[in-house]
Amino acid sequence: MSEIAFLLNGTPVRIVGVAPTRTLLDWLRENRHLTGTKEGCNEGDCGACTVMVTDAEGARALNACILMLPQIHGKAVRTVEGIAGPDGTLHPVQQAMVTHHGSQCGFCTPGFVVSMAVGHLNGRHDHDDVLAGNLCRCTGYAPIIRAAEAAEAAPVPDWMRADQKALASFALAEISSGDRGQTAPGAFRPSNSDELADWYLQNPDATLIAGATDVGLWVTKQLRDLAPVAFLNGVSDLQQIERRGDAIAIGAGVTVETLRAAMVGSHPSFAELLRRYASVQVRNAATIGGNIANGSPIGDGPPALIALGAVLHLRRGDEMRAIPLEDFFLDYRKQDRRAGEFVAAVTIPASAPDLRCYKLSKRFDQDISAVCGCFNVTVTEGKVSAARIAFGGMAGIPKRAAAVEAALVGRAWNATTIAAALPAFAQDFTPMSDMRASAAYRLEAATNLLTRYFHDLTGAPVTVLEVEA
Ligand SMILES: Cc1cc2nc3c(=O)[nH]c(=O)nc-3n(C[C@H](O)[C@H](O)[C@H](O)COP(=O)(O)OP(=O)(O)OC[C@H]3O[C@@H](n4cnc5c(N)ncnc54)[C@H](O)[C@@H]3O)c2cc1C
Ligand code: FES
Ligand code: FES
Repeated sequence: MSEIAFLLNGTPVRIVGVAPTRTLLDWLRENRHLTGTKEGCNEGDCGACTVMVTDAEGARALNACILMLPQIHGKAVRTVEGIAGPDGTLHPVQQAMVTHHGSQCGFCTPGFVVSMAVGHLNGRHDHDDVLAGNLCRCTGYAPIIRAAEAAEAAPVPDWMRADQKALASFALAEISSGDRGQTAPGAFRPSNSDELADWYLQNPDATLIAGATDVGLWVTKQLRDLAPVAFLNGVSDLQQIERRGDAIAIGAGVTVETLRAAMVGSHPSFAELLRRYASVQVRNAATIGGNIANGSPIGDGPPALIALGAVLHLRRGDEMRAIPLEDFFLDYRKQDRRAGEFVAAVTIPASAPDLRCYKLSKRFDQDISAVCGCFNVTVTEGKVSAARIAFGGMAGIPKRAAAVEAALVGRAWNATTIAAALPAFAQDFTPMSDMRASAAYRLEAATNLLTRYFHDLTGAPVTVLEVEA
């Protein structure tokens, strides 16, 4: 029997025979009448549907509208109805929202309250980041941020810590019952990459679902029927980040948020780029493997990884192969991936002190790049000895700036060389105009980013967050 088992606001729930791509949001509202969780955009953008999901790793905020029921198998879900205490006592963030007038029409408020409660539980004080994925049309953000600050010092209520303990006593037998690996009809949930490799070889036309931050929209917006599907979030060996000599191996199932935290020490500019990748809720779900595999020309992961000289590891059955990441992207939405082959990992050098990543988008938070430029130039005794420069948003694929690199290598690292290299951008790229930016803007912005990089490496202030008079 196919079964999905999880805790909902502290109570065990079992669902049998559900469609594999049924979203948690639809199920909460339509089957459980838990209508506090709102539907705003239904595509991960607004945070009105935010729920708290807890597992052995801890608690995180996720968007229920693009979260499919099999993805929460074995976890604990807390909706806004479970944020106040069992006796109705308001959570400190709820009380602070009342005191600081953080709600007007109230549509966004449940989502904000859940994000704030998860941030409070995890001791986060970076409220701008924690709440970047929650949109409010009425209040303006100042009262909401004031409410989050006011609640900081309040102790975490006992009931907010209950899920992790309850999960430990929610017998494993209960959550792993049913056919091995089956949670819903047509949905396979492998627990390791060997199982995934075998199954995918037998079902090469199936859809792999990792974080569902792309695939979720195929369901909610394009109303596509995706079965058969395999959910990758139980494949624990794809979720590791390991140091291997001078390299770091990042499993395809590592979430963007986990990767961001891991990059802060070794590759801080990459970490900062990932801080501007969507929102906390999306980063908590999206995986780096999904970001690479979907082959979007405006994904933020690939340009940084290509500039780092990343190697992509692909697996088909028992066969593994490794290719430079840039060779994976063949043409618009066409990747070098064979039937039944999946992304297993990507490896990057453990150190790249001169890597800088710049994201240009209309909105600072929660926006897709118009242009994303990543630079990794090595200067030896005043001369450029190696250069890896990669862009998103400038072509149909994430692409290296080969002509610009050639114009730099072997030359003195100075303003004259930079100026002489700028025209080479037009050889490398013929960008397009779309709603995010015009072709002319993209080309000019890309050249300006090389100038910015030059100043950045000399220590000049270039951050867009600091304005100097
Ligand atoms: C609101 C919102 C904001 C976003 N903002 C950004 C942003 O700022 N920057 C950005 O780069 N992206 C952004 N995205 C896009 C999305 O988050 C990324 O592309 C994401 O990394 C996809 O990862 P996933 O795990 O969710 O993939 P899924 O949606 O699960 O899968 C995406 C594709 O990859 C395939 N796939 C997944 N894992 C594997 C694997 N291991 N091997 C082979 N194929 C696989 C799937 O079959 C599917 O074709 C945003 C999305 C949303 C909804
Ligand atoms: S409804 Fe907008 S993020 Fe889910
Ligand atoms: S209070 Fe109305 S949308 Fe936020």
